[in-house]
Amino acid sequence: MKIGMLTSGGDCQALNAAMRGVVKGLEESCNGDVEIYGFLNGYKGLIYGDYRKLTGSDFSGILTRGGTILGSSRQPFKMMRVPDENGLDKVEAMKSNYRKLGLDCIVILGGNGTQKTANLLREEGLNVIHLPKTIDNDIYGTDITFGFYSAVDIATACIDCIHTTAASHNRVFIVEVMGHKVGWLTLYSGVASGADIILIPEIPYEDDKIIDAIQKRHQQGKGFTILAVAEGAISKADAALSKKERKEKLAKEAKKWPSVSYKIADMITERTGSEARVTVPGHTQRGGSPCPYDRILCTRLGSAAAKAIVEGKFGNMVAMKNGETKLVPLADVAGKLKTVDPDCKMIAEAKRIGISFGD
Ligand code: F6P
Repeated sequence: MKIGMLTSGGDCQALNAAMRGVVKGLEESCNGDVEIYGFLNGYKGLIYGDYRKLTGSDFSGILTRGGTILGSSRQPFKMMRVPDENGLDKVEAMKSNYRKLGLDCIVILGGNGTQKTANLLREEGLNVIHLPKTIDNDIYGTDITFGFYSAVDIATACIDCIHTTAASHNRVFIVEVMGHKVGWLTLYSGVASGADIILIPEIPYEDDKIIDAIQKRHQQGKGFTILAVAEGAISKADAALSKKERKEKLAKEAKKWPSVSYKIADMITERTGSEARVTVPGHTQRGGSPCPYDRILCTRLGSAAAKAIVEGKFGNMVAMKNGETKLVPLADVAGKLKTVDPDCKMIAEAKRIGISFGD
């Protein structure tokens, strides 16, 4: 059996753990009769035929290693049908490299954009298996993506550290959490670290509500306030704008504030007279080794992927649903985003204990 493998898009802690699961599962199932071709730096490697032939030993000892042994890059889906600067048809190039190597399947690890291209390759006739990677946890059709809980650990640890210094200095602190257009990471790390105000894109905020929450804490004798703010958080007023208007406004604001947290910090300082500080853990949230939960998740997803490959069940994402691994057709999920439901129980429970969502 000949298998191709690639990791695409922003990395996360558990990519190696997932690949290890696939390869170990295949080697056991095929009595070692498996050839692995690792394409380097995401789809770039598949497009330009940049690959390495790997053996089982390349996947040994990498369960706890962050990053990806194959390297990664962003190759936007919308550019896949656009020829490169030398006129190369990228989709045809990927198909040709797959066929030249005589692959039986290609295992693609990545987030939403990666998944869309995986689905395109499926439509073009390649045997594809997708594994849902992203710290953002926004892949539709799976309860959880790998990388998410490792990132929750890091964002939580960051807010925990801010908590102690905020308490010493009686300050307002904002920690800006990654998550692209969704609020999963902010919601989970915010609740885990006891943030007082959590702002996520799915619940547009109002300045007045943020100020009310800070003042309420003040009246309760609490000198500090911690805000966990998603990088994609948006005000109610901005959310009401058309896409074009919003884009123009954001472009203007970007000249003044590096991100939404700085804008909120200025608003708080202006309205309360108290200094508000911003901390951005940024890419640390994708770094380091995977947490135990992700190691288990990836071992299970990887092993289930190996089973799907041996059984010829291609064209699927290997998902986790209700604690069980499950094959979900790429055709059903590609291009869909899993967002936080503002009416979900977790938000209601958080609000019940006094956490403000700025709404
Ligand atoms: O999708 C993962 C992610 O880390 C997002 O949370 C974040 O918005 C984005 O990638 C950052 O991308 P880049 O690494 O290209 O700056």
